[in-house]
Amino acid sequence: MDIEHVRSRFIKHFDGLTGTVYASPGRINLIGEHTDYNGGFVFPGAIDKGMIAELRPNGTDKVRAYSIDMKDYVEFGLNEEDAPRTSWARYIFGVCREMIKRGVEVKGFNTAFAGDVPLGAGMSSSAALESTYAYALNDLFGENKVDKFELAKVGQATEHNYCGVKCGIMDQFASVFGKEGSLIRLDCRSLEYQYFPFNPEGYRLVLLDSVVKHELASSAYNKRRQSCENVVAAMKQHHPEVEFLRDANMAMLEEVKAEVSAEDYMRAEYVIGEVQRVLDVCDALEKGDYETVGAKMYETHHGMSKLYEVSCEELDFLNDIARECGVTGSRVMGGGFGGCTINLVKEELYDAFIARAKEAYKEKYGKLPKVYDVVISDGSRKLC
Ligand code: GLA
Repeated sequence: MDIEHVRSRFIKHFDGLTGTVYASPGRINLIGEHTDYNGGFVFPGAIDKGMIAELRPNGTDKVRAYSIDMKDYVEFGLNEEDAPRTSWARYIFGVCREMIKRGVEVKGFNTAFAGDVPLGAGMSSSAALESTYAYALNDLFGENKVDKFELAKVGQATEHNYCGVKCGIMDQFASVFGKEGSLIRLDCRSLEYQYFPFNPEGYRLVLLDSVVKHELASSAYNKRRQSCENVVAAMKQHHPEVEFLRDANMAMLEEVKAEVSAEDYMRAEYVIGEVQRVLDVCDALEKGDYETVGAKMYETHHGMSKLYEVSCEELDFLNDIARECGVTGSRVMGGGFGGCTINLVKEELYDAFIARAKEAYKEKYGKLPKVYDVVISDGSRKLC
C-alpha cells in the first residue's frame, strides 16, 4: 500500500492541500466459513493488503470522493435521500450514515482512496474500505468516541442497509482488530476474541486466486443465510433455546429433517460441522498439530463444495491439485462462488506446488491463478 500514491492524487484532484491518511486491511480466514452469521466461531487475520484513504473536511455538507483506482469521481450529501448510485460510493455513504446514526456529527469532506486488495477475490476489499472510513470519520468528527466493536458493526450495517449483503461480522472485525503475526479466534455471538500468534514453523500460508470473480451481493449469499434461519425456526419448535445454528447439533438436525427442505438440511449440516471444526483447529494449533489443522481445512472445502454449494469448478480443481501435491491443508476461502483457495503448505513443497498449480490451471482454463503469500498484519490505523 502506497501512501505517496494516494497523497499525490489527493493533492492533484482537490485544492492542493493535504489531509489525514488512514488505512485498513483485507483479511484471510484460516477456518470458520459462513459461521459468523450463525453465531459461531471464525478464525481470521488481517493481511498486508488493504485500502488507504486521505480525507480533509471541506466546510460544506457534501462529500467529494475520488476513487484513484477507478478514476471515478462522485459527490453526495449526507442525508438518507442523498444515496449515490455508484456502488463504490455507496460504501462510503453507508459508513457516513451509520456513523451519524451513532451520534457522530459527520460533515462534508474531500477524499481520495486506493487499494491493493484484489476486488471480488474473497479477501474483503469492501470491509477494508468500510473500516478505513469508519475509523477515519471517528477520528475526524467523533473524537474517537465510537469503540472498535462498534466501528466493525458500522461496516457490517453498511453492507446490510446500503449494499444489500446480509453479511456476518467477521470481515469488518478482522479489518479493525487485526494484529501483526496473530490470527483472531472470534466468537461471533458474544464478540469475545482471542489473539493466536500464528507462525507455523516449516509451513507457509499461500492464497491461490482462481480469478473467478465472486458477486456476494448476487442473492446467493443471502439465500444461504435464509436457509440457516429456516432450520433454526424449525428447531425452535422443539428447542426454544436455539437462537443460532451454533446452538444445534446433528441429533437436533435429524429431528427436523422432515420439516425442512433437503437443501436447507444440507446447508445446516455444513454449518454445524464447521462450527466444531474451528474449535478443533484451535486445539490442534495449541499442540502444534498442523496435520489436523490441514485435514480440517480439506473437510471444510468438501462441505463448502458439496453441502453449502459455494465453491465452483475452478476452486475444486485448485483444491484437487493441492491434494495431489501433498499440501497439508487447502480450501475455498471467504464467501465463495469464486475467489481464492487458502493453502497450508510445507516449505519444501511450496515451489513444486505453485509451479504445478500454475501449469495445470493454465492448461485447463487458459489463464494463470494469482499467487499471494499471506503476511498477517495490523488492523485499522491512522498513517499520517
Ligand atoms: C463473506 C461475509 C462474511 C462471512 C464470509 C463467509 O466474507 O462478508 O461475513 O460470512 O463471507 O465466511
